[in-house]
Amino acid sequence: MAALDAQAKKVRTVDEAGLAAAKKATTMTSSEWKELQKGVAEKWPQPAYMAEPGRGGHNCYRDETYEEITRWTEKTKIAYRPHAKAPGTKSHVRYEGYSKARTVGEALKLGSWPADWCWDWERGFIKVVGGARREEPLDISKVQDESKLTEVDMAIHRWYKRELAKKHGLSIDDLSVGKGGGESLIMRAHRLVAQRNAKARLDAASREKRPISEEEVCQTMSEWSFARNPNRVNVQPDGQDWVWSDTLGLLRDRLGDIHLTKPTKGYPEVTMVINKYLQDRLPAEAQSFKWTSLNLNCNYAAKLHRDGNNFGPSMIKAFGDFSGGELNYWPEDDRTADKLEGLKEKDKVQLDLKGGLALFNGNCGHSVNDFTGSRYSIVYFTIGAYNNAPQEAKDGLEDLGFKVPAADEDPRALLRAPRGYGRKQAGSQAGKKEELPAMRWWKASDVDASARKSKKMWTPAKGAAASAALSTTPGQQLRKRPAACSAPDTESKRARTS
Ligand SMILES: [Fe+2]
Repeated sequence: MAALDAQAKKVRTVDEAGLAAAKKATTMTSSEWKELQKGVAEKWPQPAYMAEPGRGGHNCYRDETYEEITRWTEKTKIAYRPHAKAPGTKSHVRYEGYSKARTVGEALKLGSWPADWCWDWERGFIKVVGGARREEPLDISKVQDESKLTEVDMAIHRWYKRELAKKHGLSIDDLSVGKGGGESLIMRAHRLVAQRNAKARLDAASREKRPISEEEVCQTMSEWSFARNPNRVNVQPDGQDWVWSDTLGLLRDRLGDIHLTKPTKGYPEVTMVINKYLQDRLPAEAQSFKWTSLNLNCNYAAKLHRDGNNFGPSMIKAFGDFSGGELNYWPEDDRTADKLEGLKEKDKVQLDLKGGLALFNGNCGHSVNDFTGSRYSIVYFTIGAYNNAPQEAKDGLEDLGFKVPAADEDPRALLRAPRGYGRKQAGSQAGKKEELPAMRWWKASDVDASARKSKKMWTPAKGAAASAALSTTPGQQLRKRPAACSAPDTESKRARTS
């Protein structure tokens, strides 16, 4: 008790001293200040988004505010609203000093910090009036020459890292991004949250001896921060030169080398949640389905394309709150049509990926219908030449929940070869292969029900793939997510623009 009193006394003493100093330093009276404020607020409006309900305050600014401030450079030209803060306070004295700044560099030199800029920005006390402003927030992981970073860059970077750590309950060390990782700070923060929550979901499923639900996959996807992928040229909608897409598992690079992508092991439980979803609900007719890789896709409708280098069929499912987005599929496309455009509308089959799980041949033409809302899709597939993967890439794949095909696996074990269009279909050489379908589709509610009844659950091996990405922070809490899988929030979208 005595200690508490002493603490309270100490706080009071400091406040009084600060207030007295502020009053002494004040150069105007309260009535003079009120006079100066007349008609000023209208000329210095708050950002429009501040009219919307949201969180604010000293410790938590709006996402839009972070997006703005992290784009500033030392040469960003700013103007401060004159005498915006009431006299007799410490903030008035500081404000009177730093509001003389005409650039962000000057504002820093005059004693204001990124947190001040956020505070003042949200109240309409600062305007950007020109100068250099970044198109994308500063991403220090992509800076080649750190000697070119300015004091402003460093101040923003250090502050923003602390803000993200605080906001998401992460440690600063976990947030540190190594060069070449291809992740910005905000991507790293979101992926760490996805990883932490994926681990909790796996633990809960294991404890309750149940499959991972569609909802849990969807939440993991909505927490994940997608990379802008410029390499998937064949699927990019017209007029777009990148898509939100990541690959987990094996990938063949442009030089032909096969490797495990960095996030696969960096966020092992994210990989495991996605794999467990399918492991637990592989339909009876597709028990032998194998996959080495996952494509995670966010919010784009793939244009008509053929995958090209996959081994065997792919399993696909879409998640989220959206309408439309069906898969158009030409199951008999044997690639004899010279061009994709040669495929006819009448020959396409439409598959509902929201309400069902589909097995299809990605090497046949396919596309995604336009949609509204938020749509994630996951494609489970095997890369061509998977068997040439170095042993160190193959090691651990099964622990992560992949099912690696044998060296002599039959790519036609589940779906037959396409028969081709526009010519007489090959006469029935009535073998077993001819009897197989060219695609399969299962109703999601049916496979979910079977999965819940099944006693065969996939469980991560004990000690497998410990979360290298996340050091344990004492008292760390699982970040609360909405119960229903929701559209990516502004914050997630912001992450995706980083
Ligand atoms: Fe595809």
